[in-house]
Amino acid sequence: MPNPPAMPESTPPAPGPVPSAEADALARDAADPGHRHLFHIPPAPGGRYPQVAYFAGNSLGLQPRATRLELLDELDDWARLGVEGHGEARRPWLPYHELLRGPAARLVGALPEETVVMNSLTVNLHLLMVSFYRPDRRRTRIVIEDAAFPSDSYAVRSQARLHGLDPEEVVVRLRPRPGEDTLRTADVCEYLARTGERVALVLLGGVNYRTGELMDIEAITAATHAAGAIAGWDLAHAAGNVPLRLHDWGVDFAAWCSYKYLNAGPGAVAGAFVHQRHLADPWRPRLEGWWSTEAGTRFEMAPVSRPPATVDAWQVSNPPIMAMSPVRTSLELFDTVGMAALRARSLALTGYLEALLDGTTAGRGVQVVTPRDPARRGAQLSLRVAAGPGASALARVLRREEGVVADTREPDILRLAPVPLYSTYHDCWRAVDALARTVTEG
Ligand SMILES: Cc1ncc(COP(=O)(O)O)c(C=O)c1O
Repeated sequence: MPNPPAMPESTPPAPGPVPSAEADALARDAADPGHRHLFHIPPAPGGRYPQVAYFAGNSLGLQPRATRLELLDELDDWARLGVEGHGEARRPWLPYHELLRGPAARLVGALPEETVVMNSLTVNLHLLMVSFYRPDRRRTRIVIEDAAFPSDSYAVRSQARLHGLDPEEVVVRLRPRPGEDTLRTADVCEYLARTGERVALVLLGGVNYRTGELMDIEAITAATHAAGAIAGWDLAHAAGNVPLRLHDWGVDFAAWCSYKYLNAGPGAVAGAFVHQRHLADPWRPRLEGWWSTEAGTRFEMAPVSRPPATVDAWQVSNPPIMAMSPVRTSLELFDTVGMAALRARSLALTGYLEALLDGTTAGRGVQVVTPRDPARRGAQLSLRVAAGPGASALARVLRREEGVVADTREPDILRLAPVPLYSTYHDCWRAVDALARTVTEG
């Protein structure tokens, strides 16, 4: 399948502060301390400071201090109550997922009945594609980005095969224009306008994992609908990172994980969204289990399910309480602080990091590939490392010798994500100071 090109949008660097001194960073932290005290910050393996400067919250978020205590509540209730915990635990287990629904809905800008916490991200994408990727003779294509996370690539290819279709034929991978790193919204929309009658599903990342680009979810969803297709979103790097309004934007379905910006721990239980307009259709194909039926009918042991007109109909199994507990703790934190406040702090931190980088790494073979327009990115800045032994070696040195934790994506990207809940201006200063001393070649 040919890949369409993309067209340019000029995005001049946003003007920002160009502070140079550690004292300036510390002063900013005193004025805008965030919520770092609520988290465990790992000790540094090396460098001048006792704790790491953590920039990998876009991969695995840090542990909130409350997580352990609240998880212990569940373990204690299990020890104390056995099976009776389903009804008598401090947070009864049978309706446990209801505790997460409201905060998760507020996080992604959805109605409560559109949102559920369940499974893992790719599993949710599959469950939702079973319902929403319904190719017919004319419309078979699934549009993804060429820079899609591999799990999404594999998932859509396997969905095509489930329908007896050849993934090489039906999966379209949209590429940025030659010489560019990020997809242009206008080019995605233009592709849909041109060939949309062949497209069944558009499945894009809300924030791209490699480049940190924030897509225009509203515009692409509208263009997808204008083409008569379904708009699904992988929000792994968007949930808890940028404000979302999934209901108002008319997104058909979405899924996200909880271990990155949501800080709910490795492999944490994920989230899923189905738009209200799809909830009342009793004939929509769906994979079901005993948790897909109305809660009140679950123990009738009936042979036929009676699914509710909510996203709960996509649940299959009973929720894993020990795994749900850290998600509950984390969502409560987001609910308390609020995405608007977090986004404001995120813009300030990432803008500060960008300004420091621009003032320091120019001419050293390190280039920011994330969009320069703050409205087109979340917390993450991705750096292409052309200098020296490469991004992975650089990340190892940064961690070992400077206590700066960043991660890399093949072949040459170093990712730095200042997370507004717990990262500091001083962390940003440390990262750039460390880079300046580590990357010396031009
Ligand atoms: C954008 C994106 N999609 C999908 C996944 C896969 O997630 P999971 O293993 O939780 O299904 C990841 C994991 O990091 C991701 O970043």
